[in-house]
Amino acid sequence: MQNDSKSKLQEGAQAMDPRSLKIEAAAAALTYVEDGMRLGIGTGSTAEEFVRLLAVKVAAGMSIIGVPTSERTAALCRELSVPLSTLEDTPQLDLTIDGADEIDAELNLIKGGGGALLREKIVAAASSRMIVIADASKFVDVLGAFPLPIEVNRFGLASTKLAIEAAAARLGLPGALTLRMTKGDAFVTEPFVTDGGHLILDASFGRIPDTRALSNALHAIPGVVEHGLFLNLAHTAILAGADGIQTLLRDTSV
Ligand code: A5P
Repeated sequence: MQNDSKSKLQEGAQAMDPRSLKIEAAAAALTYVEDGMRLGIGTGSTAEEFVRLLAVKVAAGMSIIGVPTSERTAALCRELSVPLSTLEDTPQLDLTIDGADEIDAELNLIKGGGGALLREKIVAAASSRMIVIADASKFVDVLGAFPLPIEVNRFGLASTKLAIEAAAARLGLPGALTLRMTKGDAFVTEPFVTDGGHLILDASFGRIPDTRALSNALHAIPGVVEHGLFLNLAHTAILAGADGIQTLLRDTSV
């Protein structure tokens, strides 16, 4: 895609009602869901719109089984009577539909703004296909303006943080690492804890030109549980913007 059309996509989306764009993207993704499918169900406000639309189909008789990527998504599915399974009982999935915080032209993603990146990545990797849904403002030239969530073990937090800073510096990526806190009462701030019981460091790199090098470097640090770079996982991106829906496919030949 050319830069011009990219920025048009973003500007158009920024001017529109974000919720209606999320619903449009979710509705377009729903057309890929077939009776009998084993579905990975994502986390976040866009994925929640998908769950609401899916629940209507299920109520009308569609038979699917869903594996949720977070406790939050599981709760919404239960509330709306979307049938659920686990990766223990359903270890291979046909399709995962999930949101993203940033998407580039190769359909690499930053995810984890909602703190569910570990389960999201495990579920996406267990799926034959991943469709990412978003409003078009999430489409970027280079990943990294959105702080990269890095899920870390509580044990050795300070050492892990130093190791991440050193790895980032070696790759020419300066930027603050911030321990994610809960968004609660201003007087009670505690570290945000993931569904897996870990903590999150948000890395403000600004631009990540070599996502594969950063991914490898982070995976080499023992205290890092997982990071929010989703490389070569999404097959399709459905972006809703001012001009309607744009569907992007990953070139799987490279
Ligand atoms: C959850 O951990 C994230 O990966 C979300 O998928 C991502 O933050 C997108 O969320 P929204 O749809 O709320 O923007």
